[in-house]
Amino acid sequence: MLIVLIVKLLIGTSNRKLHDEVKFISDRKVLGVDSRIIGGDIATPHQYPYQVALYIWKQVTQYFCGGVLISLRWVLTAAHCVDYATEILVYLGTHDLTQSETGSRVIYNTSTYIIHENYDSVLFQNDVALIRLPEEVALNQYIATIPISQGNQTYVGEMSTTLGWGLTATEGYSTVLRYVDTEVISNAECAASHPDYAALVVDQHLCTTGKSNVYFKMRHIFYLNVILGEGIVGSCSSDSGGAVVINEVLVGVVSWGAIDCTAGLPSVNARLTFFYDWIQENSGKDVMKISPHLWFLLLSIFFVVV
Ligand SMILES: *[C@@H]1O[C@H](CO)[C@@H](O)[C@H](O)[C@H]1NC(C)=O
Ligand SMILES: *[C@@H]1O[C@H](CO)[C@@H](O)[C@H](O)[C@H]1NC(C)=O
Repeated sequence: MLIVLIVKLLIGTSNRKLHDEVKFISDRKVLGVDSRIIGGDIATPHQYPYQVALYIWKQVTQYFCGGVLISLRWVLTAAHCVDYATEILVYLGTHDLTQSETGSRVIYNTSTYIIHENYDSVLFQNDVALIRLPEEVALNQYIATIPISQGNQTYVGEMSTTLGWGLTATEGYSTVLRYVDTEVISNAECAASHPDYAALVVDQHLCTTGKSNVYFKMRHIFYLNVILGEGIVGSCSSDSGGAVVINEVLVGVVSWGAIDCTAGLPSVNARLTFFYDWIQENSGKDVMKISPHLWFLLLSIFFVVV
């Protein structure tokens, strides 16, 4: 028994070294070196001042995710990023993670967060969470909030921008923020892309295409598609929790996708029109809450001690 446990742990840690998060689809190829925030490019520094970097500790294992500043006090991210987190470092006003960025970067250390009460780690539903900053952050040219989409728009056919420091093709995890422009597709099209997606994609998901013309914005030009071929676009490991933006409005946070990010399958995000009320309610109250898992852990410790 013990041997099995230790082996599992070792695999866990070696697979998930510094930066990582979860990739779900079961029958994809093993993650190759060719995976990244695909088809994208390096962002102009501080072009997206609402995007934050998260270093997350779950006991001794460190993970990396994106997040989004939605108010002076709250960062929105994916539930699977902070589930079981014991310590979270929130980097605001950052672009190049390897630099000290003393003029722009502000770091907060917190373990206060709210995970959606119906977060389902098996079906990847309600994959949203809020991280509470220990104080109100001062806004400036490097640190800004972004409004969340409201109403019933589906955004199908619109171009979105996804942000992240996730895996890149040639340099491993990106040290600088990257963006990728991809088109929002209907959930029906998303579900039809693969049987695993068909089993998982529901209304609360917002999918962006995994395949796009390299010169997507010029797609009306006859034959360009044929000449240049299709590019593979989307989010990848460590991009989770990051922003998906349309016209300076936050429409999604990165949630899940195929293990092989270069398979050309859609990237799936939490659809924020679906979670608008939850976000308002939970960030508006501005109260301390503790993760149910942490309660469980604390109770377990209590009972063990007793
Ligand atoms: C964050 O805070 C925790 C709890 O106070 C502390 O143990 C940890 O060392 C801090 N981490 C950093 C990087 O400052
Ligand atoms: C979406 O919202 C608009 C404006 O409130 C409304 O007129 C329309 O009927 C709604 N559509 C759906 C499908 O709910």
